[in-house]
Amino acid sequence: MKAYDLILKKRQGLALNKEEIEFLIEGYTKDEIPDYQMSAWAMAVFFQGMTPEETAYLTTAMVNSGETLAWNEIAGKVVDKHSTGGVGDKTSIVLAPLMAAAGIPFAKMSGRGLGHTGGTLDKLESFQGFRIDLSREEISKNVNEIGVVLSGQTADLVPADGKLYALRDVTATVESIPLIASSIMSKKIASGADAIVLDVKVGKGAFMKSLDDAVKLSEAMVDIGKRLDRSMTAVLSQMEEPLGNMVGNALEIKEAIDTLAGKGPEDLRELVLVIGSYLMVLGEYRDNREAAYEELALLLDNGKALEKFKEMVKAQGGDIAEVDNPELLPKAKDVIPFTASRAGYVAELDALAVGRAAMSLGAGRQKKGDPIDLGVGIEVVRKTGDMVAEGDVLAYIHSNDEKKTIEAMKELDLAYVLSEKEQEKLPLVYRIIQ
Ligand code: URA
Repeated sequence: MKAYDLILKKRQGLALNKEEIEFLIEGYTKDEIPDYQMSAWAMAVFFQGMTPEETAYLTTAMVNSGETLAWNEIAGKVVDKHSTGGVGDKTSIVLAPLMAAAGIPFAKMSGRGLGHTGGTLDKLESFQGFRIDLSREEISKNVNEIGVVLSGQTADLVPADGKLYALRDVTATVESIPLIASSIMSKKIASGADAIVLDVKVGKGAFMKSLDDAVKLSEAMVDIGKRLDRSMTAVLSQMEEPLGNMVGNALEIKEAIDTLAGKGPEDLRELVLVIGSYLMVLGEYRDNREAAYEELALLLDNGKALEKFKEMVKAQGGDIAEVDNPELLPKAKDVIPFTASRAGYVAELDALAVGRAAMSLGAGRQKKGDPIDLGVGIEVVRKTGDMVAEGDVLAYIHSNDEKKTIEAMKELDLAYVLSEKEQEKLPLVYRIIQ
């Protein structure tokens, strides 16, 4: 087999078979196929697409390029969720202990933030001493003893994706549905999930800007999962404006704690309950989704989910005094109001611009390894549909640096669009695809 022939075949719009896909992925992982040939193939895929079979073969070949995890300590199905990334998305931090409080073991491997979306691991490191670099043995112990772990990746999962994603990034081939779908699904499958809920974000602050594209990506990922015997649901959720009110590491932890205590913003709570209840049914832990939703809501309201969160923070070396009193978490020096220049309705609150405002304060990183400032961020006070008077506070800027505050102000100026016309609130969930 020759890489040249497979590139040509794809360029002509023909589907590659399982052996051909394996040849490309194996060869590329072992450095036997050079970047220039893999780039040409990726570009051919970009224009010609892939059949559903091909996409599933690609996913399997990528899974097989590295280690895979097995969760022997979990007796039932292993459930997992994945978000395609958004601004203010702290769903996993609430969901993980909540699932454990319902008796469903939840061990989630998360990542660090890059660009305008924050990473779960960075947020959790707001707790003094919190460890995300647990060994496989420690993870196993925590799953057995308390039922929940949020940690960094322990094994060398899907090295082919690491290589291919970096290549796509510099060859204008990221935005290909089969390549994105196989990239995401290969990582979920390699990390041992049997039942997966995908939170596919749609809107200005998301990877997928239009509902049409999000539907195509969701269908492709659900199809891959089903072909590989996984139980799948995709929740398409709105990311025009940030999720919840807080954007920034310690600020998001505070909001997650509030939500775990039965308070917190309605949209975050709702999304957690929707994803959690689908997970419970998909994992065959419950058979009625509405009842599962109510059960989870009760666990937020009666303090059980927060108790579980404290157990998790403690087991991972964090300081639970900071859970009891979030004022002890890292804090910015200054909290500056950003106010409305005129009266009206909030017609738009651009999640991407809010994410950029938080980035400019130091809450995120431009490139891998950059340091981040845990205390800074944006606290959104008014969201789409809210009526405001001139001078009302739209948001607070939590900042440690005056120059950066000015940058954040400029971004917030772009983020908020006020209009005289009354505006409807945005829906939270657009569609469920199964
Ligand atoms: N996220 C991924 O993990 N892979 C992609 O290809 C795009 C987004």
